[in-house]
Amino acid sequence: MKPQRSIGLAGVLLVRACSAQTYQRLGTCPTLGCVFPPDQAEFIAGQFFDIRLEVHAPINGSEANGKQPDEKFTFTIAKRDDTPVPATEYFKLSEPKLERWNFSWYEDLFARDAHKPSIVNVTSKAYRRVALYEPGEYIATLTYNNGTKTEASWLVRDLQEVRKAKNIIMFIGDGMTTNMITAARLIAHKTVNGRYQTKMAMDKFPILGHQMTHSIDTFITDSANSASALYTGHKSTVNCLGVYADSSKDPFDDPKVETIAEMFYRLTGGHVGIVSTAYIADATPAALTAHTRDRGQYGAIVDSFLNGITNYTWTNWTGPDVLFGGGAEQFYDPKLGGKTYQNKDYYNEFAKKGYQIVWNNTALAKAGNDSKTLGIFTVSNMAKWLDRNVYKNNLNQSLSPSGDKKPALDQPGLKEMTIKAIDILTKRSGEKGFFLMSEAASIDKMMHVLDYDRALGELLELDDTVKATIEHLKTLKKFNETLILVTADHGHGFDVMGSVDTKYLAAQNADRKRRNAVGTYEKSGLSQYINTGNLTYTEGVHFPSNWDPRYTLFQGLAADPDRRENYQVHKNGPRVPAVNITSEADYYVNPKDAPDGFVINGTLPVADDQGVHSLTDVPVFAMGPCQESFGGVYNSIDIFFGMAECFGLGRGRPQSSY
Ligand SMILES: *[C@@H]1O[C@H](CO)[C@@H](O)[C@H](O)[C@H]1NC(C)=O
Ligand SMILES: *[C@@H]1O[C@H](CO)[C@@H](O)[C@H](O)[C@H]1NC(C)=O
Ligand SMILES: *[C@@H]1O[C@H](CO)[C@@H](O)[C@H](O)[C@H]1NC(C)=O
Ligand SMILES: *[C@@H]1O[C@H](CO)[C@@H](O)[C@H](O)[C@H]1NC(C)=O
Ligand SMILES: *[C@@H]1O[C@H](CO)[C@@H](O)[C@H](O)[C@H]1NC(C)=O
Ligand SMILES: *[C@@H]1O[C@H](CO)[C@@H](O)[C@H](O)[C@H]1NC(C)=O
Ligand SMILES: *[C@@H]1O[C@H](CO)[C@@H](O)[C@H](O)[C@H]1NC(C)=O
Ligand SMILES: *[C@@H]1O[C@H](CO)[C@@H](O)[C@H](O)[C@H]1NC(C)=O
Ligand SMILES: *[C@@H]1O[C@H](CO)[C@@H](O)[C@H](O)[C@H]1NC(C)=O
Ligand SMILES: *[C@@H]1O[C@H](CO)[C@@H](O)[C@H](O)[C@H]1NC(C)=O
Ligand SMILES: *[C@@H]1O[C@H](CO)[C@@H](O)[C@H](O)[C@H]1NC(C)=O
Ligand SMILES: *[C@@H]1O[C@H](CO)[C@@H](O)[C@H](O)[C@H]1NC(C)=O
Ligand SMILES: [Zn+2]
Repeated sequence: MKPQRSIGLAGVLLVRACSAQTYQRLGTCPTLGCVFPPDQAEFIAGQFFDIRLEVHAPINGSEANGKQPDEKFTFTIAKRDDTPVPATEYFKLSEPKLERWNFSWYEDLFARDAHKPSIVNVTSKAYRRVALYEPGEYIATLTYNNGTKTEASWLVRDLQEVRKAKNIIMFIGDGMTTNMITAARLIAHKTVNGRYQTKMAMDKFPILGHQMTHSIDTFITDSANSASALYTGHKSTVNCLGVYADSSKDPFDDPKVETIAEMFYRLTGGHVGIVSTAYIADATPAALTAHTRDRGQYGAIVDSFLNGITNYTWTNWTGPDVLFGGGAEQFYDPKLGGKTYQNKDYYNEFAKKGYQIVWNNTALAKAGNDSKTLGIFTVSNMAKWLDRNVYKNNLNQSLSPSGDKKPALDQPGLKEMTIKAIDILTKRSGEKGFFLMSEAASIDKMMHVLDYDRALGELLELDDTVKATIEHLKTLKKFNETLILVTADHGHGFDVMGSVDTKYLAAQNADRKRRNAVGTYEKSGLSQYINTGNLTYTEGVHFPSNWDPRYTLFQGLAADPDRRENYQVHKNGPRVPAVNITSEADYYVNPKDAPDGFVINGTLPVADDQGVHSLTDVPVFAMGPCQESFGGVYNSIDIFFGMAECFGLGRGRPQSSY
């Protein structure tokens, strides 16, 4: 998976502005001539993508140059050392029409506070759905403003085309870090004299890698552009799904890149499954089929699952075999309060295309394996493992997937959804094989609201799902032909630093005394979540036997809003650590959260009511065919190339048989 690119490419790196690193006119375009995909982009031979060119004419601000936007820019492409030819000739396309727009941006916080945006006039062209078929380095050159050049070096990786895996199952623990896995192990696995008696399913994977999650234009990523990197091999900008961000206002016209799901289907007829505990239009599931600058276009994202890219000729995508998750409000009729694309009833839209539709765990278990299946089990995000299994009263909310405002009491967990997805995909895909993405979304969502217990419960559910998946594949005799990956899309700055005597804490009457309930080093003790009582411990179900012990974990995140901590499980549902007490986005400690705890003032901007993502590399566990490609330290995009190569897509040619 090592890219090969000549070093010291003349011109490419020379004209970068060295200021404006943080507040950017357009992240991937440091000069006034923009080429997307930008310099350093990498592709699989035959992978579809769009090219967007922009020439910027700053009207005011620090870059203003008094020039009219260039309408006569040219664009050439060639393999390195070959003679450049116009892109229209190279791709056999007619000249795209010239587009114009303008946009504004703030150069720094002072400009923002003074409401003084800098305005930029833009001329642009887009070349839609092109591909490069030969491995090697290509130089794409935009010539604008009477001879100024922007050169981009593009690399088509030289990958093997022998298919090694029939199936790939990619588990994503959203926001999951090694620190969280360590904490989950501590509360669910017994130790004797410092030795764990059992291991997490993830701990047993033969290959461990680390992936770097850095976005294309910022070092902290969100789940949209990180998922895009994992699925397309192209890094992108926060909030982008399967596109590079251009500067136009239209959220759907940005240059697209083909995803692993689209390529696998287009080239091999392989079947695709998408499972998440989030609302299904959320970024991690969405990035498999959606192509938009704005991850918030939920209705259009749901349409893209079914119909592929709206308004552009792209691939012949016809919908996944399996789509399981929450987010009913993007499906049911707007008359019931649905918020759908073009006000359609998307249960109907899916049914019209032959999908069976299930709304609860009982129906899911009974459903046949022969049909494409849409399973939507709640409004918004699915219930957390802790609420489904321990604090069940919290399910009593008006979240029924039908839109009838009843509670969604019979929701499946990630395990039930994933196993059923495997059954349907196995049955339907036959010799073609399948790609399944299964996301434990609320590890991230619960870490955002500092609800550590719920986050770790979700992580343990993911681990239980991984274990059940391995067993199920063995039963189905599909284990040796299936690559299983367990990874994350980014982290949170979470760790455990000791224990807390919650009884002592509750007995104190002042914040500074309450802090003495924290036990570090030799006072940290042993996990009370599992080591209590006489529990006979064998390989089996690995969740805490007691979520509410006297001695809990002294745990937390590196960046927070103001909040109060008593380090106890939140029995009444997911935590709300901070609230705005004026009419502005100015968040303080929620007076109702952990009232007997001590106040910890936040470090984040006061407009943030939640924790945020962090920089850490995240783990990649691999087992099965091609597992060796996933050891070591590499970039998030390498996961896409590793999976695509393992599926034999490396030369962009059909590999229909396995
Ligand atoms: C910006 O573009 C508009 C046309 O879209 C043009 O009318 C205007 O003159 C341009 N402004 C400058 C300062 O170039
Ligand atoms: C920017 O574009 C809008 C139309 O989209 C136009 O009304 C406005 O005048 C333009 N601004 C400049 C400075 O050209
Ligand atoms: C640029 O021009 C716009 C429109 O006249 C104005 O609102 C804005 O403050 C100007 N920005 C700067 C940085 O001068
Ligand atoms: C390009 O050259 C023409 C003619 O000399 C001039 O009018 C124009 O302003 C130049 N454009 C830019 C962007 O430098
Ligand atoms: C769509 O892709 C499938 C899978 O490769 C293929 O069997 C089918 O022929 C394609 N259809 C069209 C119209 O390209
Ligand atoms: C597709 O085009 C139609 C008609 O122009 C428009 O109403 C719709 O918003 C577009 N949808 C997307 C996803 O671009
Ligand atoms: C599950 O959904 C089916 C319809 O698909 C319905 O008949 C059944 O009552 C539901 N069960 C529960 C427990 O909600
Ligand atoms: C679906 O497939 C699984 C595994 O092969 C099987 O156990 C189950 O009975 C099937 N379900 C139906 C309804 O056929
Ligand atoms: C997987 O195991 C089956 C027998 O269970 C065997 O026929 C097949 O060749 C194996 N495939 C691989 C890739 O090892
Ligand atoms: C273990 O605890 C359970 C109740 O928690 C009790 O019924 C059982 O007798 C205990 N077993 C032993 C061997 O102490
Ligand atoms: C702050 O809370 C008030 C009600 O307490 C609400 O009306 C307002 O929209 C909130 N503002 C923000 C930015 O969340
Ligand atoms: C938290 O900040 C407030 C001011 O916003 C201050 O009054 C209070 O003393 C701080 N508390 C701690 C524990 O730092
Ligand atoms: Zn997140």
